[in-house]
Amino acid sequence: MKDKVILSGMRPTGSLHLGNYFGALENWIKLQEEYKCFFFVADWHALTTGYEDTSEIKNNINEVVIDWLSAGLDPEKCTIFLQSSIKEHAELHLLFSMITPSSWLFRCPTYKDQIAQIKDKNITTYGFLGYPCLMTADILIYKADFVPVGEDQLPHLELAREIARRFNYLYKEVFPEPQPLLTKAKVLPGLDGRKMSKSYGNTIALSDDPDTIRKKVSSMITDPARIRKDDPGHPEVCAVYAFHKVFNEEEVPEIEQQCRGGKIGCVQCKRNLANKVVEYMTPIYEKRQELLKNPGIIREVIENGNENARKVARKTMEDVRKAMDIDW
Ligand code: TRP
Ligand code: SF4
Repeated sequence: MKDKVILSGMRPTGSLHLGNYFGALENWIKLQEEYKCFFFVADWHALTTGYEDTSEIKNNINEVVIDWLSAGLDPEKCTIFLQSSIKEHAELHLLFSMITPSSWLFRCPTYKDQIAQIKDKNITTYGFLGYPCLMTADILIYKADFVPVGEDQLPHLELAREIARRFNYLYKEVFPEPQPLLTKAKVLPGLDGRKMSKSYGNTIALSDDPDTIRKKVSSMITDPARIRKDDPGHPEVCAVYAFHKVFNEEEVPEIEQQCRGGKIGCVQCKRNLANKVVEYMTPIYEKRQELLKNPGIIREVIENGNENARKVARKTMEDVRKAMDIDW
């Protein structure tokens, strides 16, 4: 019996890469087995920073859901839905905005960081300030017990608990206080050893075909001190080695030894890795090809999920209106 509720979301920022996969999606796929899971595409959240150029959103929604299904999220085991399809999120966000002191939002570290960092877009908007309040509505409307998120999102979870407490105190006990679910995500650097990020152009996409994967792996940055094969290597500075730790755990001790001893060449080491990465990603690739043959499937999955989510969200909103005595 699945009794605990899990909820998480991703903004539709384009196709996912292996960093996103090991950072979140791999964990979601495990969680769907044991919890009542709601996973959604946070398309309204995408507008908080991207309201000027909306041209990619629709396509990105499709992309992200294809990635989820290819990787193994199963609509039979979890609810996959689209935030903007469930208008109740907006209603709850509005009601929360009434009870949330604006100082809680202004002091949010993610808000302060982004305002300081993002200079190419004007994000000094009401909507961007309210980002964590909308996120709180996303979470509480499903009365989620646990929210799997990265560390960067912890302040938002803290705020969600504060808003839940404030609501429960002002009106009636409606909301549980959602707990973050921090998993020790495997760290996979980008092809060049920096953080894997689309803006660095150092990613392997979940949608890459085997040839592309092989080419990308062969272009990876290794220990720059190694020029000839018998130069002793330093695996700890090598992105290929970091990948072996994720895709080829078994051989890691051997690779470390051979690398340090100058007994293995980087070309061979990469070829070995490429085989392991391709082997891991082939089922994902094949699933994607199958999904692409049926272009209506993504809409169907989202619409089914929406129906499920909507039922829960409507019920919660009834509780909320009643608790606030605004159920006229
Ligand atoms: N803020 C999250 C992110 O950028 C996305 C998100 C929106 C979310 N609403 C959520 C995550 C609710 C968990 C729960 O990654
Ligand atoms: Fe990296 Fe492998 Fe070369 Fe060592 S042998 S530096 S681990 S690619």
